[in-house]
Formats: sequence, C-alpha cells, structure tokens
Amino acid sequence: MAGERNIGVGLIGTGYMGKCHALAWNAVAPTFGDVARPRLVHLGEANAALAGQKAAELGFARGSGDWRRVVEDPEVDIVSITTPNAFHAEMAIAALEAGKHVWCEKPMATSLADAEAMLAAARKAGRVTALGYNYIQNPATRHMKALIAEGVIGTVNHVRFEMDEDFMADGTAPFGWKSMAASGYGALDDFGVHPLSLLSVLVVPITEVIADLAKPYEMRPASGGKAVETHDIANVLFRAGTISGSLLLNRSAWGRKGRIAVQVFGSEGTLAYDQERMNELQLYEARGTAANQGFRTILTGTVHPPYDKFIPAPGHGLGFNDLKVIEAREILKRIAGEPAHLIDFEAGLAVERAVHAMARSHAEKAWVRVGS
Ligand SMILES: NC(=O)c1ccc[n+]([C@@H]2O[C@H](COP(=O)([O-])OP(=O)(O)OC[C@H]3O[C@@H](n4cnc5c(N)ncnc54)[C@H](O)[C@@H]3O)[C@@H](O)[C@H]2O)c1
Repeated sequence: MAGERNIGVGLIGTGYMGKCHALAWNAVAPTFGDVARPRLVHLGEANAALAGQKAAELGFARGSGDWRRVVEDPEVDIVSITTPNAFHAEMAIAALEAGKHVWCEKPMATSLADAEAMLAAARKAGRVTALGYNYIQNPATRHMKALIAEGVIGTVNHVRFEMDEDFMADGTAPFGWKSMAASGYGALDDFGVHPLSLLSVLVVPITEVIADLAKPYEMRPASGGKAVETHDIANVLFRAGTISGSLLLNRSAWGRKGRIAVQVFGSEGTLAYDQERMNELQLYEARGTAANQGFRTILTGTVHPPYDKFIPAPGHGLGFNDLKVIEAREILKRIAGEPAHLIDFEAGLAVERAVHAMARSHAEKAWVRVGS
C-alpha cells in the first residue's frame, strides 16, 4: 500500500505523546537518511479548533475533530494512537479494519479482552502493529541485550526492576483520568508495562507472579466525592522460567522523575541501568584481579547503534524523544519487510497477560501463573 508513495501518517491525540510521535515522524527520514520522508496527512483531536491548531503546529496537512475521519482517510497508511488508555482498543481496531498499520501507545488496552480483540484485528488485517515501548530502543538497553546474549555476565539468575515517578505524588492534585478505573489498574499497566517490556526483550517472559497493590491516597479533590479507583503503587515478585525477580512500581514517589532502574544478575557478572541516566550502563565482571574489580560505567556512543545516526561524537547523549525516532524507524523497517526490534500486538499481549495476572494475584492474595 505504501510502496509507491511516501507513507502517509495519521495521528490521534496531540498531548504529551502525540507531540512526541509527531516529532518522530518529522525526524525519522533526516535522522536515518535511508527512508523516504513520511507525509504527515491528518490528525484528530477532541475538537476541530484544537485539531486545526495542532495540525499547523506539528506539520500535518489537515486536522479533524472526529478521529474516525483520520482512520478513514485514504491518504493515511499508518495511524499513531496517542490518546488516553481507554481509547486504544476502539481506535486501533477501527484503524486496522480500515487497512491501516497501527502505532499505539502503551498500555495496549485497559482489559485483557480488549487487548485480545486488538491482536485478533491485527492478525485479520495483516498490517504492522507496534506499541510505544520506547525504552527498548535506547542504545544503552540494546547494548545490555547484546551483552547478555554474548554471555558476558554468564547465566542470568536474578533480575530486579524498579520504576518510580512523582506525577501522582501530590495528594492535593485533582482527580483525573489516571485515578479512574477506566484507565486501568494504575501503576501496573499505566507504568509497569515499561519495565516489563524491557524484561521481555532482555531476559524471558514472566511465568508466575505474586503482587500487592497500594493506594497512597484514597481520595483526591474535584472527584465529586468519588474515591480514587487506581493503585499508584505495586510490589511484585515473579518467576521468569528459572529466573527469580522483583518489580517495584511507584508513580507517587516524590523526587523520582523517570526512574527505570534495571539490575540483571548473572553467574559471572551484573548489568545495571537507570533511565534517569539513559546514556550509560554499568557492567561488573567477576573475573580478573579481585583488587581491581568494580562496576564500570559505559557511556553510549557511536559504537552503540543507532546512536551514530543522531550524533557523530560519543558520550554527548540522546534524549527521550530520540527513542521515539528510533521506534518510528523500526516500524518503517517492519513495514518494508525487514527485521525490526519492536513489541508488536503479538508480543504486547504477553506483557498484558503478565499485568492482568499481577492484578489477579493482588485480588486473590496468591501466586498466579501467567496464561498464554
Ligand atoms: N511511551 C511513553 O513513554 C508514554 C509516556 C506518556 C504517556 N504514554 C501513553 O500515551 C497515551 C497518551 O498519554 P499523554 O500523556 O500523551 O496524554 P495527554 O492527556 O497529554 O494527551 C492525550 C490527548 O488525546 C486527546 N484526546 C482525548 N480524547 C480524544 C478523542 N476522543 N479523539 C481525539 N483526541 C482525543 C486529548 O485532547 C489530548 O491531546 C496514554 O496511553 C499514555 O499511557 C506513553
């Protein structure tokens, strides 16, 4: 469909992530230099005035106050979905049914049934799908994956994943969509899916979980007397085959701004990474002279692809938005039938299954096996 013309992009939602996708679609061709520049065709927003304003700002040819116009537009080949979580399933399924490729923000959906319906629609349409799991695109985490695969830290036996931010830390902040059950469980799916995406590419999928969820605030202002429905904190123990692990999540953690702290322990060493210092990773190798052993900091640079596509000098650092540019390039590779480093709806459903098993474990206060 996109073979004879530059790929046509549709975008639904222009908030935090919508702008990030728009920047990525604008930057992917000049950054990589090996793909045709996508055409920014049509964006959708909650009303026509905002859609028109955002289309002009972000470089799209037109904007509509009804997202269905974007999905139906014959000039659109791929739809970026960056609306609140509760809209993902309906919009992704409509786009797939209209024959479009889909790049949908995480979490995939707010219920397992919706995620399964999204995968079924993707299989039926035979179109490319991708979820917004940008942290797997970081040259630093890609290098971790390569080091683990090369056996540099030996056999992995334990992993510890933590994710903390403070956007829900202020208990006096008003009740919004992230406090509503319609957005999902809270920290687990709105948030914990990111470390789970890293886990799924670095190690192996989770097989068994036990979880405890918590609410730091039962009530928030401006809710019309409604109690907070989501859990901003989650503590999970898990098994991933023979590997034991923990996943600790808190989106009300004052002072933490974008912490995804990953430690992978092996029989011959340890790897550590923190998204707040996204241009470096730590490697400890348990060999050589004991007196000289210690963690080494590896700064990412031109030897860690695709860093070199952004900057010719090592150690200068990529930023969060650059991860989306890499993600966009991977999607274009998949569309062209080339191997791509992505979490599509198929792989994304495994992440969703882990999340729902965690929520069930909390409710049942017991270990739960992750279904397949
Ligand atoms: N990948 C990441 O690192 C990351 C980071 C933040 C958010 N997200 C995800 O991105 C999604 C959006 O989050 P956000 O922080 O950008 O939210 P946001 O509130 O900043 O933006 C949402 C946008 O969707 C628009 N919108 C709402 N209803 C709409 C409708 N019916 N039709 C068209 N537009 C509509 C809103 O007007 C707004 O512009 C969420 O699913 C979130 O989980 C991902």
